[in-house]
Amino acid sequence: MKIKIAASMLAADFSQLGMEVGRIEKAGSDLLHFDIMDGHFVPNITFGFSFLKALRDKTTLPFDVHLMITNPLDFVDSFVEAGADIISVHLEVCPHLHRVVHYIKDRGIKVSVALNPATSLSSLEDILQDLDMVLLMSVNPGFAGQRFIPAVLPKIKALREILTKKGLSPDLEVDGGINQRTAPLVIKAGANILVAGSAIFNSKGGIKKAVEGLRKSP
Ligand code: DX5
Ligand code: ZN
Repeated sequence: MKIKIAASMLAADFSQLGMEVGRIEKAGSDLLHFDIMDGHFVPNITFGFSFLKALRDKTTLPFDVHLMITNPLDFVDSFVEAGADIISVHLEVCPHLHRVVHYIKDRGIKVSVALNPATSLSSLEDILQDLDMVLLMSVNPGFAGQRFIPAVLPKIKALREILTKKGLSPDLEVDGGINQRTAPLVIKAGANILVAGSAIFNSKGGIKKAVEGLRKSP
């Protein structure tokens, strides 16, 4: 399986965003991951759709938008307009998940559902066939630079098995605490897209090397 890397802009240098995007594209990242936080669903506030809009013409990389907000439906149109290629909504804030998923799909972009580490896969099963991606969080969302939660590994494996059994092939993205040590573990468990912030932008040996290292199969 081809492993893709999604660089999390949360760990980039915000004073040089245009340059950072160019740098990460050159380093070989496959996607740009944007962490949108509202200070309500998660205990942090980051940035909004105007941030994406300002960067949209700086790169051809797909924009992977991770909405950590309580009312995702209120903002889907704005993020689509700003250039999102895929939007992840959290299962925990979507009692009417089918409606939200299909609203995003109908906008002509890809759709994904994100699960916190303690959220079980069971409520996802009946919507899996409609998804382009599933995002499994391997930290509690809110901040870059947190420690990987190993209990997520069996969950990745279980989801990969369910997908195989159902004959479905949405992407399986894992987000949080991914570094050179944990990347091989999540790949082995069945993930095919790895989000990484600190491991790329804070790497000592250069970001290209970091991206290549993370992609390496176990
Ligand atoms: C956490 C975010 C992550 C985070 C990843 O809430 O969803 O995307 O930025 O950062 P690292 O790779 O540093 O854990
Ligand atoms: Zn994220």
